[in-house]
Amino acid sequence: MDKVTSKVRAFYETYPYPPGGAVDCDGYHARLLLSYIERTENGRENLQVLEAGCGRAVNLQAAARLQPDVEFTGIDINRVAIREAQQAVLSRGLSNLKFAEADLLDPSSIPPVEGGYDLILSYGVIHHLSDPLKGLSHLQANLSAQGVIALMVDGSFGRQPLDRYRDILSTLERDGEIASSRMATARALARVAEHTLFKGNCWQGTAEVDEVEFADRCLHVHECNYDMDSLKQLLDAAGLRFVRWLEPADWSVNRLLEEPSLKQLLSQQDEFQRYRLIERLFYRPKLTFVAARQAADSRHELSMADIAQTSFRLNPQVKLMSKESGGASYQLRQQALFEPETLCEQQVMALAELSSSQLSGSQIANRLAESDCSHDAVFSVLYELEARELIYRPNTAFSEVTQ
Ligand SMILES: C[S@@+](CC[C@H](N)C(=O)[O-])C[C@H]1O[C@@H](n2cnc3c(N)ncnc32)[C@H](O)[C@@H]1O
Repeated sequence: MDKVTSKVRAFYETYPYPPGGAVDCDGYHARLLLSYIERTENGRENLQVLEAGCGRAVNLQAAARLQPDVEFTGIDINRVAIREAQQAVLSRGLSNLKFAEADLLDPSSIPPVEGGYDLILSYGVIHHLSDPLKGLSHLQANLSAQGVIALMVDGSFGRQPLDRYRDILSTLERDGEIASSRMATARALARVAEHTLFKGNCWQGTAEVDEVEFADRCLHVHECNYDMDSLKQLLDAAGLRFVRWLEPADWSVNRLLEEPSLKQLLSQQDEFQRYRLIERLFYRPKLTFVAARQAADSRHELSMADIAQTSFRLNPQVKLMSKESGGASYQLRQQALFEPETLCEQQVMALAELSSSQLSGSQIANRLAESDCSHDAVFSVLYELEARELIYRPNTAFSEVTQ
């Protein structure tokens, strides 16, 4: 283990991340993430998922509970976090989740799976490595040919206020200072920054977050940041290509800009150029996205002619917000609340919500035939809901085990 990795390990063993219980399972749905690329073969019974740098694995445990037919493996250098996670899994009886102590920079320590992992998750880890490209390349080597990799790395433009804060903190710190006094100085400085550097941006509130979160934000020992250019270079060099953002709405010109002339100018730019402008204009502290091998095909767009034969599933990230006599409303990630207006929209969403397996467009239309929804009306609702990501198209290559 190199010196930087040992320091990073000592830091996270003191402050095992994340704090608290499960906070966010949005980026852990294997079939949803895999549906973003074409996949023609499966070749094994259960999907294999690796979380690289899982920490205390609280989100991974929640994901394993929600997807009992998927095999999960969590790896980390943090022995404290791995031990805690192992115990939690034993006491909860989760038989589809196992752990190993492993260093992303040492490929022999990463537990191999025949044919590679279908999905690799790594959130908030690559930027802590002494050699991010080496670590990412090892993950790429462990990815199946038609697999996907979901990553979160720190974004340099969104972190500028925090970087300035850390600059100031480093000039105030004395060599050999013990952790508890570093923490006290850092908190005091953060309280000042609340009225200056952090005011009105995504870092507001940092002074008050709990100790583990505070340490991760303000006291980490080794980290680099990415912008669109350096991210693209990293992916290219690791043999990967960008597939999509986990939350495309955060990077959508139509959603972010109101001025029509600006909108039009930006839509003429290529995809990465648009993102370069967005990261400079808006705070984007985390770059969370899905990538795949360079040869992997993007998923083809849905056409009306395909709908009858295509299978659909409720997007597992959709949350039911309220269910009143007037109908239900749904929330997808940060997007605007979806309140079905027509009877047909209400019926399709209710059916997707209740169904424990995927259904084809024709099956959905047949089931709703008695409720005054014509086949054509159902098909255009399905088309619309898929475009809004409220429902998705699982890859037909996976057989689904229903519970
Ligand atoms: C900010 S935490 C993220 C934890 C988890 N992914 C999450 O989102 O809650 C970073 C994690 O990366 C792990 N890590 C850092 N360098 C590593 C390496 N070389 N190999 C494996 N894990 C590493 C740390 O131990 C820590 O648990």
